[in-house]
Amino acid sequence: LDNGLARTPPMGWMHWQRFRCLVDCDIYPDECISEKLFRAMADHMVSDGYLAAGYEYVMIDDCWADKERDAKGRLQPDPDRFPSGIKNLSDYIHGKGLKFGMYADYGLRTCAGYPGSLLYLERDADTFAEWEVDYLKFDGCYSDWQFIDKGYIQMGKYLNATGRPIVYSCSWPAYQEPNGMQSNYTSLAETCNLWRNWDDIDDGWNNVTEILDWFSSNQDRLAPFSAPGHWNDPDMLIIGNYGLSLEQSKAQMAIWSIMAAPLIMSVDLRTIRPEFRDILLNRDVIAVNQDPLGVMGKLILKRKNIDIWTKPLSDTADGRSRVAIGLMSHRVDGYPYRIGFTLGELNITSPRGFNLKDLFDENLKHPVYSDSEKIYVRVKPTGGTLLVATSLK
Ligand code: GLA
Repeated sequence: LDNGLARTPPMGWMHWQRFRCLVDCDIYPDECISEKLFRAMADHMVSDGYLAAGYEYVMIDDCWADKERDAKGRLQPDPDRFPSGIKNLSDYIHGKGLKFGMYADYGLRTCAGYPGSLLYLERDADTFAEWEVDYLKFDGCYSDWQFIDKGYIQMGKYLNATGRPIVYSCSWPAYQEPNGMQSNYTSLAETCNLWRNWDDIDDGWNNVTEILDWFSSNQDRLAPFSAPGHWNDPDMLIIGNYGLSLEQSKAQMAIWSIMAAPLIMSVDLRTIRPEFRDILLNRDVIAVNQDPLGVMGKLILKRKNIDIWTKPLSDTADGRSRVAIGLMSHRVDGYPYRIGFTLGELNITSPRGFNLKDLFDENLKHPVYSDSEKIYVRVKPTGGTLLVATSLK
């Protein structure tokens, strides 16, 4: 969508994967979906360095709304969980130098059963603009998926008409593709800043690999539509939660960055362990994700049950070409497997060779003098890493 926003993949925090639809604040006072939770996350976004690293959106997912609209037909928040109102929360988040995102659904109801926007598109767009929302995730439950595009296009017009710049996150492919229908990506790129292509991520390594299987199988169809202003979205980062090991977390961060995927964390920032936080805050890896070219990398080589992905990056200031190389292992034979490959096998060529750097391991940094020289990288079981090859002058 050419609205000046999301020129690089959006980065932020959203509650769904970690906090789901926890609405009982009596039993879970610190975890329930409430203004208290979002204020706490906003505080940590700033104090723990996430904002400085580029994560700028704090976003509410489903289950924020009251069960009914107000007397004027407007969406309203649950009064017990958001007693100060959404505009007040929006002000708090903006006051921290962050941006504010919200969730709604095109259908009759949201996926969790809260009021949908079907008969209220214009009114809801106006409400979000009044609340100074900067990002809208617009879901597609309880609607007719075959014709869902039209509604999203209409909502996009209403958002545009508010005059407020709002990142528009669509979900229409996530309802079409799993039903065997190929979505219209030309229309998506014109209408939306990002779109969920496929099923929800859950908190497990198998979810990461299943999502990547689908994206790599469809990469030739999807990659042309990844560029500044519009992005494919494989769903949230689950790093720091219960399901991924440290090495699996590096793999998710590496491949999401290779794919130019939005980096949307969903983890309790109050209690995340420091080694997981370091993965989310790795500046070199984030720079690969945020590369201005915005190319969606692809899976190029499968060898010994290890996937090798590549992504062309923008040139260095002094004109040297760069390519990111992501490795992800499906191996479970308990030791760091030494995988060999040449840059030529990855279609990476340069007359003078390359300097190679592992962004998760400062020790691995060495020159490679030709495309046919064998490179060896040790990849841990169900782990991954990210390298950058920079051509030598
Ligand atoms: C759908 C979306 C999820 C989340 C839930 C909320 O499943 O794909 O990302 O927003 O709805 O109910």
